[in-house]
Amino acid sequence: MQISAKKQINIGKVQIDSIVSLSPLAGVTDYVLRKLIREYSKTCLLVTEMISSEALVQKPDTNITYTDKEEAPISFQIEGHKPELMAKSAKILEKKASIIDINMGCPINKIVKGQDGCSLMKNPQLARDIVIAVKETVNIPVTCKFRLGWSQDSKNFIEFAQIMQEAGADAVTVHARTRSQLYSGAADWNELSKLSGELDIPYFANGDIINPQKALECLEISKADGISIGRASMGDLSLLYRIEKYLNEDILIPEPDLSEKISMIKKHLDAEIEFRGEETGIKFFRKFYPCYIKNIRGGADYRHRLVTELNYNNIINILKEILHNGQE
Ligand SMILES: Cc1cc2nc3c(=O)[nH]c(=O)nc-3n(C[C@H](O)[C@H](O)[C@H](O)COP(=O)(O)O)c2cc1C
Repeated sequence: MQISAKKQINIGKVQIDSIVSLSPLAGVTDYVLRKLIREYSKTCLLVTEMISSEALVQKPDTNITYTDKEEAPISFQIEGHKPELMAKSAKILEKKASIIDINMGCPINKIVKGQDGCSLMKNPQLARDIVIAVKETVNIPVTCKFRLGWSQDSKNFIEFAQIMQEAGADAVTVHARTRSQLYSGAADWNELSKLSGELDIPYFANGDIINPQKALECLEISKADGISIGRASMGDLSLLYRIEKYLNEDILIPEPDLSEKISMIKKHLDAEIEFRGEETGIKFFRKFYPCYIKNIRGGADYRHRLVTELNYNNIINILKEILHNGQE
């Protein structure tokens, strides 16, 4: 295997001692998940879920912005389309953040029906004004995350990345799908390689990186400076660490086995309960069971029982049953 030559990335004045970053996932990459990922990887770039600039300016002190010093380096992602509000919200977050990231890729209707998220790719002038306003307001690096374009026949990511760079962006992350694709089809890492040589700032490749080998493949194909890992981090707290080990030291740590996954679930669930309270924590955690528990005998039945259970002790008993049956 050819080991990745790069082990760090400079994003503006911030040096990240890793080329692996977490993707922002709304309702997923909260303080709890980030902290648990940080227990494994001391160096990866953590990223918050998107934070609405409008909501933040109205109510600056919310759970969604909670962090602590051990999380650094951490990027806070903001979402919106009004340069003034985006700048204000970046200012609110500046003390907590190592980097401010701007969401220009979210495809969901609720977001793009205004001018937010990926619809900014149809309005590069406005996207540019947002970056300029945020850069003028904060003293930390600013990055942008977007897609290949709005649709197959309007892939403008190269020109768009260059405009963001000119406006002052210190790095970009590109999800290798268009808005029209949503999450369908395969991420086109090859397409991302067209960015190589076109930018002076680093670019991160994103989409469908699910294990260490795919991380290396994506880096080789996309020629990116770094990679960003989203959904696959939901069922394995050690994934970013395992990817770093493989890229930096050629050490392939196997995927956690069932017993390790059950321990991860328990730790993750307990931490969500501590952070959110028992009932909210248990309900919040439901989305994670299918990610942790895949490909096991009777999986559908177990998942159904777990996502409908509200009693903590019963959940623990189901987890014990899964482990017991899985090890028979
Ligand atoms: C549940 C969910 C929530 C997401 N939330 C965000 C978000 O808040 N901000 C953002 O830029 N992208 C968001 N994304 C997109 C991811 O960051 C990422 O670009 C996409 O999932 C592709 O990467 P992956 O294949 O590694 O998951 C979200 C995706 C999912 C599935």
